[in-house]
Amino acid sequence: MRHHDPYDFPDGSDEEEGMETDEDQYDAQCPDLEIVGSDAGSASSLSDTRSSTLYSASTGSHSESGTAFSHQRFHNWDDDSDDERMSTSSDTSLATRIQRDYSRDMATSEVYHLPADEEERDRLRKQHHMLISIMRAKYPPGMERVLASTIPGEKRVLDLGCGNGEWISDVARDFPFCECVAIDLVPIRDSRGLPPNVRTEVDDVNLGLQHCYGQFDVVHVRLIASGVKDYQLLIEDISRILRPGGVMELCEFDFSIYNQNHHPFTIHLHEPMASPYWARWMAHLRHAVHGRGGDIFAAGYLWQWATKHPAFENIESRDVWLPTVPGNHSKFPSEFYALLRENVSSFLRAGKPLICGSGLSEEDFEFLRDQTLWELHHSDETQFTRLQCLWASKRMDYVDPPNED
Ligand SMILES: C[S@@+](CC[C@H](N)C(=O)[O-])C[C@H]1O[C@@H](n2cnc3c(N)ncnc32)[C@H](O)[C@@H]1O
Repeated sequence: MRHHDPYDFPDGSDEEEGMETDEDQYDAQCPDLEIVGSDAGSASSLSDTRSSTLYSASTGSHSESGTAFSHQRFHNWDDDSDDERMSTSSDTSLATRIQRDYSRDMATSEVYHLPADEEERDRLRKQHHMLISIMRAKYPPGMERVLASTIPGEKRVLDLGCGNGEWISDVARDFPFCECVAIDLVPIRDSRGLPPNVRTEVDDVNLGLQHCYGQFDVVHVRLIASGVKDYQLLIEDISRILRPGGVMELCEFDFSIYNQNHHPFTIHLHEPMASPYWARWMAHLRHAVHGRGGDIFAAGYLWQWATKHPAFENIESRDVWLPTVPGNHSKFPSEFYALLRENVSSFLRAGKPLICGSGLSEEDFEFLRDQTLWELHHSDETQFTRLQCLWASKRMDYVDPPNED
């Protein structure tokens, strides 16, 4: 049985501690980036007028009014009467634990196996800012409208697999009247740095999210497919978590690497090691994630699953092509390529326990990593990662079917 979670509420006295340094550093850059993709047209409409205020909100300090809330004001949804369903970090049914593996502190559940240490937090922090700059927007279409309210706690936002809590912290500052909930396998390291209208929960989305049904106006999920057993089931959960008119945003990559024409490289794991090494490294990661039960196919099915689901309408998707091995790609500012290289270098280290755990020898892993690092800095050939993003709203008149359990 899962238990009520005593949410970790900061008292607001030291809000934002530790959150500004990186923002200052990265908000300075909102490069004029080209968006390449099958539906780049919709990308540019996303990035036009919609979010200018929200984007600039991130560069300043967060709203003063955010400090006005106390957790009591937000405590209606987890009414004790029906909430034995919340999990806690001490919940023994939760398979998550931190394990040391190849000198990294790992978040390790039955499925997920990537680090949860300072290096990974730093990577996620920078990646968050990089993604905002390439998307040219922080939030999906319709989110601002859905969250328009000045009644504290009336509107609620949920971030599943929140990592550091970067995205949910932005939301909490930009929409200070909203109640924000961040769920992850591992606790956010320093929750005192979170805005006061953020609550955190340690939970595994694979265990079901019934305790969130009907409670949220926005649900955000980004880059957690490697820890999700059945992503279509997660979308079903999200359809029930959303209130009528609520907005879902999903963003995943597909564990493939693409050439400059956006065709995926075909890699056979048992052939001798040869270039392209980044594509080969990713093929090993894909194999390892699949071996643990992660949904490596999710990104490619987001559109199909969302459009087939009767709860959703106003569905839009967008591909974002990241030149993760920059090669001769030269359309972005040089700082952006530096960030990408740093991100990939760090990710190469992060994947070691997962890939070596799935059978690749440490020696082969190090060879592959070194060759990939060489490509990252010296190769002329661009290798792309494809990020597939989708957003949709829940029909106002949709009635959720009865729960099966
Ligand atoms: C690559 S990080 C992305 C973090 C964040 N969404 C972002 O975009 O910065 C993946 C996160 O998802 C979490 N995660 C993976 N599987 C999960 C699961 N089954 N339930 C809850 N969280 C999960 C991990 O602990 C990790 O913090």
